[in-house]
Amino acid sequence: MKFDRSKVDHHSYDEKVINEQLRIFYLEHFEEKSTFAEDVKNGLLTANKFLLPKYFYDVRGSELFKRICETDEYYLTRTELSIIKKYANHISSSNINKNTLVELGSGSSAKSKHILDSFLKCRDKVKYVPIDVSDIIVESSKKLIEKYANLHITGLVSFYEEGVDFITQLDESAKVILFLGSSIGNFTFDAEEIFLKRLRNDMREDDILLIGFDMIKDEKVLLNAYNDREGITSEFNLNILRRINEGLGGNFNLKMFKHDAIFNKDESRIEMHLVSIEAQEVYIKAIDETIAFEKGETIHTENSHKFSDEKIEDIANRADLFVSEKFKDEKNYFSLCILKPK
Ligand code: AVI
Repeated sequence: MKFDRSKVDHHSYDEKVINEQLRIFYLEHFEEKSTFAEDVKNGLLTANKFLLPKYFYDVRGSELFKRICETDEYYLTRTELSIIKKYANHISSSNINKNTLVELGSGSSAKSKHILDSFLKCRDKVKYVPIDVSDIIVESSKKLIEKYANLHITGLVSFYEEGVDFITQLDESAKVILFLGSSIGNFTFDAEEIFLKRLRNDMREDDILLIGFDMIKDEKVLLNAYNDREGITSEFNLNILRRINEGLGGNFNLKMFKHDAIFNKDESRIEMHLVSIEAQEVYIKAIDETIAFEKGETIHTENSHKFSDEKIEDIANRADLFVSEKFKDEKNYFSLCILKPK
C-alpha cells in the first residue's frame, strides 16, 4: 500500500495503491470543514433556507440511502436495475470498441456490476473508474477484483463534479460514462446544464453517456417514494442536521424538525424539506451564528426532478449531445438513455 501525491488539472490527489488491479485516489482537501461550514452558512442565513443535498452522504447518510433503495415505495433503483439487466449485453456488444467504464456516483456499484459483467464477458481487459463521495468504493472495488481477474480499477473519492476533470486526464481510450439513479434530477436547472456541458466538453467524440432519468408519473407513486412507511427517508433527511451537529458543533434538536416531501407540479419535481415544529433558535459553533426559525418554516434540502421524453431531448440538446437510444421498463417509470456527442 502506498500514498503518492499527483496533480491532475488544477486538483491535487492522494493516491493509494492497493494492488496491481486496484488504486484509489482521494481528492485533497475534499473533506474540508470550511467548505461545509460556508455552504451551511450560505444556506441558513438566507430568507428561503436551504441545504445542499450532497451533504446527505456521510457514512450514515449513505447507509440510509441504501436502505431507501430497498423500500417497497422507492421504485427507482429496482426499475433501473431491471432495465440494466435486460439491456447490459446489448450495451456491451454495441460498444465493443470501448473497454473503459467510468461511473459518476458509483456507491457500492450494485447496478453497474451487471454492466461490468457483460463487458468483461467479451473483452480481454476492462478498466473501471468509480467516482463517489464515499470511500465505500474501496470495499466494493476489492470485491469486484476478487471476482474478475481481467478488471482494473482506478477509483476516486470525490464529489463527481470534480471527478469529471480527473477522468479526462487519466484516460486516453473511448469510454462509457455511467450516471445512473436519476442523480441528474438532483441538480438545479442551471447546475445541470453547467455540469452536462462540462462533461460533454471533456468527452471524446466516441465516448457515450449512459444516464438514468426518473420519469413523470402518477403523483401518488412519486409522493410515496419519498414518504416511505418505515420513515427511512425521514431519517435520511434529518441526518443532514445531525451532520451539522457533529461536524460543525450545531445544537439542532432533531425532534423539533419533521420531514416533508411534496410534489411541485410547476417545476416537475419532488421537494424535500425539514419543517420547524416550533419557533426556535439553533446555534452553530463553527460559523458562530444563531439561526432563528419560525414555526412551520422549512429548510429546503433536496429537489428531485422528474422527466418527460421531450425534457430529456432538451437537456441533451443544451449540452450538445443527442439521445441515441432509450431503454425503458413496461410502466414507463424510468428511462435509461445513451447520449452521444452531436
Ligand atoms: C440520489 N437521488 C437520485 C435520490 C432521489 O431520488 O432524488 C436521493 C433521494 N432522496 C430521497 N430519497 C432518495
